Amino acid sequence: MATRFITPAGTADRRSAAPRLAARGVTVGYGGRTVIEGLDVEVPTGVITTIIGPNGCGKSTLLRTLSRLLRPDGGTVVLDGEDIAGLRTRDVARKLGLLPQSPLAPEGLTVADLVARGRHPHQSWLRQWSSDDAGVVARALAMTGVSDLADRPVDSLSGGQRQRVWISMTLAQGTDLLLLDEPTTYLDLAHAVDVLDLVDDLHESGRTVVMVLHDLNLAARYSDHLVVMRAGSVLAQGHPREVVTVELLREAFGLNAAVIDDPVGGRPLVVPIGRTHTGP
Ligand SMILES: Nc1ncnc2c1ncn2[C@@H]1O[C@H](COP(=O)(O)OP(=O)(O)O)[C@@H](O)[C@H]1O
Ligand SMILES: [Mg+2]
Repeated sequence: MATRFITPAGTADRRSAAPRLAARGVTVGYGGRTVIEGLDVEVPTGVITTIIGPNGCGKSTLLRTLSRLLRPDGGTVVLDGEDIAGLRTRDVARKLGLLPQSPLAPEGLTVADLVARGRHPHQSWLRQWSSDDAGVVARALAMTGVSDLADRPVDSLSGGQRQRVWISMTLAQGTDLLLLDEPTTYLDLAHAVDVLDLVDDLHESGRTVVMVLHDLNLAARYSDHLVVMRAGSVLAQGHPREVVTVELLREAFGLNAAVIDDPVGGRPLVVPIGRTHTGP
């Protein structure tokens, strides 16, 4: 299926910059079963890119491939101009941080200890834990608003607190490229918005973010670049105002919906219609 590249007015500068991360003709799957075939995607530098698409279409598989947890059967992933397959694990971990979907902390592990694990890629038998590491961890805790929770076991926290702690650990890794797989899942709307405001702060402070979200309206509100997937392919990518259309929603999700202007923020707002309503 052909990918539509859409470049709205005003984004030309961004798009002319080399992408931080790109998949070129990537084919990948599990145990010989192909999930993604010949996929091309670009993560523009310094913006928030969000991947959306139906359950099981390959969003997490794509994120794992972009972060080199999965090795493609064909094609390449390019990170800062280099084929990621040729980089050492430690070098990849110093450039990008991945927060997997529904991560689990070891029982009883405290927030401070979990976040400190983000520093592992920076340590070796030559370079042990230092006051620099302690400073980075303290800043990561503060930036995500969880300093007060430092001594609490992660498994005693609420969903919203836990999600902030995981983002904090990813931040402690000290990379300016963050891949977040469904950072708002299981959170109520207020806590989801809270986490996305935090993601926006990270973007404002210069980081490049790629995330997977299920809520189309939050995806349109918080992202500059949307990647729409279906069945292992990219259907469209571009600015939310150009990408989120009635036709695209039908094509990608089989969803009957109206698209109106969001009164807050001016992005598209998806209003699901479903079968029982006749629509506008
Ligand atoms: N570890 C795995 N082993 C085997 N198959 C997997 C694994 N992870 C995902 N899959 C399969 O790959 C497909 C895409 O899954 P995934 O990337 O998790 O989708 P999404 O994140 O879009 O919901 C699904 O059919 C899923 O069952
Ligand atoms: Mg997933």
